[in-house]
Amino acid sequence: MPAGPNAYNSLWQVRTDAWSALEESTAQLALAGAQQRPVEQLTDTAAEALDVLAPIERFWAFPGMPAFYKMRRLFTGGKYDRCAAIVARINRALATDSYRGSQSWDAEAEDDAYDRQARSADQGRRQRPYFEVLVVDDMTEDQERALREEFRRWRRPDDQFLYEIVVVPSFDDAVMAARLNLRLQACVVRRRFTHQSRHDCSSLARFVSLGECEDLMDISPDERAQVLARSLARIRPELDLYLMTEIAVEDLAGRLSHHFRRIFHIREGSLELHLSILDGIAARYRAPFFSALGSYSHRPTGVFHALPVSHGKSIVNSHWIRDMVDFYGLEIFLAETSATCGGLDSLLEPTGPLREAQQLAAETFGSKQTYFVTNGTSTANKVVVQALVQPGDIVLVDWNCHQSHHYGLMLAGAMVTYLDAYRLNQYSMYGAVPITEIKSQLLDLRRAGKLDRVKMLLLTNCTFDGIVYDVQRVMQECLAIKPDLIFLWDEAWFAFARFHPVYRPRTAMRAARTLAETLRQPEHRASYDAQTEAIGTIDAAADEVLLSRRLLPDPARARVWVYATQSTHKTLTSLRQGSMIHVWDQDFSQKVEETFHEAYMTHTSTSPNYQILASLDLGRRQAALEGFELVQKQIENAMRLRDAVDHHPLLSRYMRCLTTAELIPAEYRPSDIDQPLRSGLPNMLQAWDTDEFVLDPSRITIYIGNTGIEGDVFKRSHLMDRYGVQINKTSRNTVLFMTTIGTTRSSVAYLIEVLVTMARELETQLADMSPAERTAHERAVLRLTAPSAPLPDFSGFHPSFTDGQGLPTREGDGAPFICPTTTATASTCRPMRSGSGSRPGKVVSTNYVTPYPPGFPVLVPGQVFSPQILAFMRSLDTPEVHGYRADLGYRVYVDKALEIAATTRPAPPPDPPAPEAATPAAAPDAVPDAPQGGPDHVH
Ligand SMILES: Cc1ncc(COP(=O)(O)O)c(C=O)c1O
Repeated sequence: MPAGPNAYNSLWQVRTDAWSALEESTAQLALAGAQQRPVEQLTDTAAEALDVLAPIERFWAFPGMPAFYKMRRLFTGGKYDRCAAIVARINRALATDSYRGSQSWDAEAEDDAYDRQARSADQGRRQRPYFEVLVVDDMTEDQERALREEFRRWRRPDDQFLYEIVVVPSFDDAVMAARLNLRLQACVVRRRFTHQSRHDCSSLARFVSLGECEDLMDISPDERAQVLARSLARIRPELDLYLMTEIAVEDLAGRLSHHFRRIFHIREGSLELHLSILDGIAARYRAPFFSALGSYSHRPTGVFHALPVSHGKSIVNSHWIRDMVDFYGLEIFLAETSATCGGLDSLLEPTGPLREAQQLAAETFGSKQTYFVTNGTSTANKVVVQALVQPGDIVLVDWNCHQSHHYGLMLAGAMVTYLDAYRLNQYSMYGAVPITEIKSQLLDLRRAGKLDRVKMLLLTNCTFDGIVYDVQRVMQECLAIKPDLIFLWDEAWFAFARFHPVYRPRTAMRAARTLAETLRQPEHRASYDAQTEAIGTIDAAADEVLLSRRLLPDPARARVWVYATQSTHKTLTSLRQGSMIHVWDQDFSQKVEETFHEAYMTHTSTSPNYQILASLDLGRRQAALEGFELVQKQIENAMRLRDAVDHHPLLSRYMRCLTTAELIPAEYRPSDIDQPLRSGLPNMLQAWDTDEFVLDPSRITIYIGNTGIEGDVFKRSHLMDRYGVQINKTSRNTVLFMTTIGTTRSSVAYLIEVLVTMARELETQLADMSPAERTAHERAVLRLTAPSAPLPDFSGFHPSFTDGQGLPTREGDGAPFICPTTTATASTCRPMRSGSGSRPGKVVSTNYVTPYPPGFPVLVPGQVFSPQILAFMRSLDTPEVHGYRADLGYRVYVDKALEIAATTRPAPPPDPPAPEAATPAAAPDAVPDAPQGGPDHVH
């Protein structure tokens, strides 16, 4: 029995299953007919499958409605054998994708001999990338067939690509097709289309949301075309849009050209349109740097320069490292060169293919400028901070940000105000920083007269665990208080988000563009005036008033200066360390470009890796042409994993996927939707539209407290060592599984298999346990399921690390860290000052202490220790803690002698800690029930 659309998260799955059910039932019907057996049940199954397919097949070019109608006519006419033959051919072609790139496929043909002919006709032809083009026009079946034939006639053997058209008659159908047909790359809007679909679309409501649409009845055809173009661009900005019209094209071109790639007159035929469609795809397909490197690699060269591996020369003649070529292949060495001319380019001063590749990336990722980085987002972050922050500037940053920000801010000489994220003590995880925390810190700085020194807000979106900010809201409210604030969004984990319509509005580049557009709108000016009427000017309004409402920035003062750094290699296709910096800064060329370039030079190797750069170029091409398809499938795979864990009777006894409601407290979710995607796309859209934080569904945190196995042991000893399943982050009682565009259904299936095996083993072990062993197991479960030591907030800088007027604001300066502590003197490091009664603590960290994963420092230089921090560190299950040595303890400034006391000493006896170091703040007994062996002593 085919499942109806509501049984799944994926319409593609529904479609695949329905075709399979149809193939099976029609094959049996054909057989039953031959043997004269009863057929009622089989006809019911086939009819159900046809009912599922009828409202959705019209969105795809293959097999197309004529073939579908023919097949249905054969079925209703009882000609089961002929029907079964067509269905089998279509289903086979869908399953193997064999219709893609084939010139000769005819879905209506009924016999296999036809397929063999088609295949042999295609043989010897280059497999060309295939795509589909949406035509929006209300046509008869015959007109549609004629149009399809017309486009096919223009095909030439040397065309780079092959396409077929899908015709839909209405606005609503066009929007649904854009959402559902992942193969669409272009859309031709003609003038005669209706508003609403003629079909009953209720079964699709779960997968598509038509959203609000203006009334199309009373507007002119070209205005309707414009409204449709806007809607399509919102869903799929990458689609090339074309308009075909019967009226004065010259006039329309002047008015509508920003919506459409080209506008054609309908009577001039379709050749020009056909060529433009191919040209549009070719523009995205181009990968200038990859191509340049490819051409270079096949030219014979004499190398009188660095890089002996260039053209494999030091390897192919070697007697000892030939296996290097066997392993990597010769091609990669042919492409190794340090040349910056001869068709190649210099990353530091790009003028040729690299410059072009970066411009294409800017178009694809929606930035004004994009820069490639070959040393990861760790370097990208340092470049941006160094370009924009002067010594003494105040930067607001999430305390739990990646270590590269801490180091970058230190190098820039910034004063740092750490922001506290909300805490999830139950799972030993941090969430994201609430807007009220950001606003209160800004207002504190305003009260202290320091707002003019505040330069930048730096946040991680999405967080490691998948918490996603409302980027536009954050920027709007902050700009209301500080109209010239710069935003750096660390999107190390979020490069893919641009390519899905639900995620896109919460990316930095899209939010920056929307914000700039909003600030120009008269409606915004009016709302801002109404706000002034209600609360007076923001500069004069009281803190409580500003904290209690959503603020709008003054359109006359606010500037949009937004930067995003992305580890392309983490979530899209790129070799390791391939990252990008995206810029959407209204004043970049006048104010920033030069210093940005200097900062870029500071951190960029003069020998950047060309393979990484070429892979960034190709990763961009892929994202531009199939980003939507890949991300959509990634989400579906993630949902499959969630479903499989939560619905498996054995697994769900020991593990469960944490829901949005468990990871994001209700106060940040006004939509009140606990599981947005699971309850259908419209709910997901609503939550993503209104909630302060949402959960990226592609990341799955599984709660494993009931297994009695700690997160890190679960990861290392079980998943990695025994089954080769790699994951990164764990907490005491959770493990995080990330899906990417590389996740396949088979890898999801394998993971489920592994988890089920582990659960079975646990069941067996439990059954065989002695009473004492069972008690020990129950204790382990209790320890993991009981609340842990509360996560610490940022405990504050010691006053010696502030600017002297520190309190009540909390910015500090971690720069003394750069002095090697073994040689620290009062002249190279600022000494701790004497006897200040307002000191928040006595023991101060000299360095970053960073549990890895996830790689966020729990202590930064100059930060005072607190009992909460020590308790938290002890409760960690992370074996790798950078900046801490289990045999020696922490490195600290001790305020005892009122001088720098950060020296390395011989290891103290492991237990108890050295008495003078065991300050009250660090007293181990401040931590109830802490497990032994965690980082808990100082040296
Ligand atoms: C939030 C965040 N930013 C930056 C980075 C560094 O990225 P890369 O590995 O590309 O240097 C990471 C790495 O995990 C990260 O999690």
